[in-house]
Amino acid sequence: MSEMLSLTRAARLVGVNRTALQKKIQCGEMTSFDGMVSRDALLACFPEAQLEENAELARVLQIKERAFGKRVFERALPDAEVLAERITELSTALAGSQSQVKQFNSLLNRLWDQLDEIARKDAAFVSLKSWLKDEVEAAMEPGFSNPLAIRDGMLRVMTAQVTVLPGRQDFLVEGQDTLLEAAMRAGIPLNYGCSGGNCGLCKAKVVSGRVKKTRHHDFALSEAEKNQGCILMCSNTAISDVVLEATVAGSVQDIPFQQITAKVKSVELLSGNVLLLHLQTPRSQRLRFLAGQRVTLRVGSAYTAELSIASCPCDDRNILFHLHYFSGNLFSEFVFNRLKAGDEVEVEGPQGEFILHEKSERALYFIAFDGGFAPIKSLIEHAMSLETEHIHLHWIASTEPNIYMSNVGRAWADALDGFAYTELIAGFDLHTISGKRETSLLDMLEALQCSNPEIAASDVYLAGPQASVFLAEKFFLAAGMPKSRVFIEVVQ
Ligand code: FES
Repeated sequence: MSEMLSLTRAARLVGVNRTALQKKIQCGEMTSFDGMVSRDALLACFPEAQLEENAELARVLQIKERAFGKRVFERALPDAEVLAERITELSTALAGSQSQVKQFNSLLNRLWDQLDEIARKDAAFVSLKSWLKDEVEAAMEPGFSNPLAIRDGMLRVMTAQVTVLPGRQDFLVEGQDTLLEAAMRAGIPLNYGCSGGNCGLCKAKVVSGRVKKTRHHDFALSEAEKNQGCILMCSNTAISDVVLEATVAGSVQDIPFQQITAKVKSVELLSGNVLLLHLQTPRSQRLRFLAGQRVTLRVGSAYTAELSIASCPCDDRNILFHLHYFSGNLFSEFVFNRLKAGDEVEVEGPQGEFILHEKSERALYFIAFDGGFAPIKSLIEHAMSLETEHIHLHWIASTEPNIYMSNVGRAWADALDGFAYTELIAGFDLHTISGKRETSLLDMLEALQCSNPEIAASDVYLAGPQASVFLAEKFFLAAGMPKSRVFIEVVQ
């Protein structure tokens, strides 16, 4: 039987996402054992995989690159030392395999002699010998080996797979990423603190496989911890496939309250009354949060506001916010008129429970009203890290300028097959809904529901001004959706 592969590695080999493989398994097109698939079963299901470029994978990488602002190719190659160790590791495995092949060949020759001997005495063994000869020759034919094995060998030089116990989440470590960075990129919220080797919160135990320290850490592991195989995930990368025991945040309660002094990286106008505030935390004190959460910002001497984070937890140093200008609101006036690159901003939090329900396998419907796009953007980027399929984004805005990042929605829809994006203009202020406006918004929701009948069987995430969000929640509950599948966030 050919080697068993995790779904993450198998998906990477044939250039699809994990969900596509899960579907093949669920509908019986591909067999799996204990969450793993064999190379032969994979090739039988994707025979063209040996020839085609990984177009789908390239598209997913492209969208992630756009979404997270990372240059994919800059992080494609491991550093020279890690590369050398991976090649050494594979060379050792190759040498072991070659020695085994030699032993099998010698065994085969001895078996051959024995069969010759027996066949001379008993003619019945002549046909057995001839059958065995044909089988051996067929097995030795060039090209007999599964071509995915060759691609897998290359993939193992470039990436290593990590499985986290006890939940068995897995991810690939690429380029120069540490274990922690790779896990965050894959949307797995491992426990950590500083990201810089100081706090010890990212401690994990290596159950099997080889890791290598690639970043200095000041935190000292005790001798007992070292002997147990403990390492710091923010300072180590994987040389071979690795199994770790580590703590993963399962809920908002697992994320500690943090106070960080961040610096303004940039303030950029997105439309007439919305700006993009980009904060950067110190290297040694990054913001840990779950997608969809909020933080409190304090600027100047006393101006504060609670804002949804509009970026993904996969980049915990660069935190983005969409800020709307409200006349008379001291915080927004200060940021619009006086805040500039290099200024300090106090960040406290995170708070909020508007997070992705990752275990759900239902399609995801996101409805953003005006600035509700900020937390929804964070959730969608996280869902993309998890390679979630079937995402629908509907952005309903008071006026056209309030759809201040329509290029983002369109780029997601262009790049991902399972992503649908629509924009709707209400033509009235979504902060105040009553009378005709209520009827009009309900009509819009009704039309949205009619053109997307599968929404009834999906998870619905609503974010935006209170009046719109509450009305939409009431609408979906009245339509028969259970409260456990309608999630709301009020954003001013
Ligand atoms: S996160 Fe602080 S030491 Fe790794």
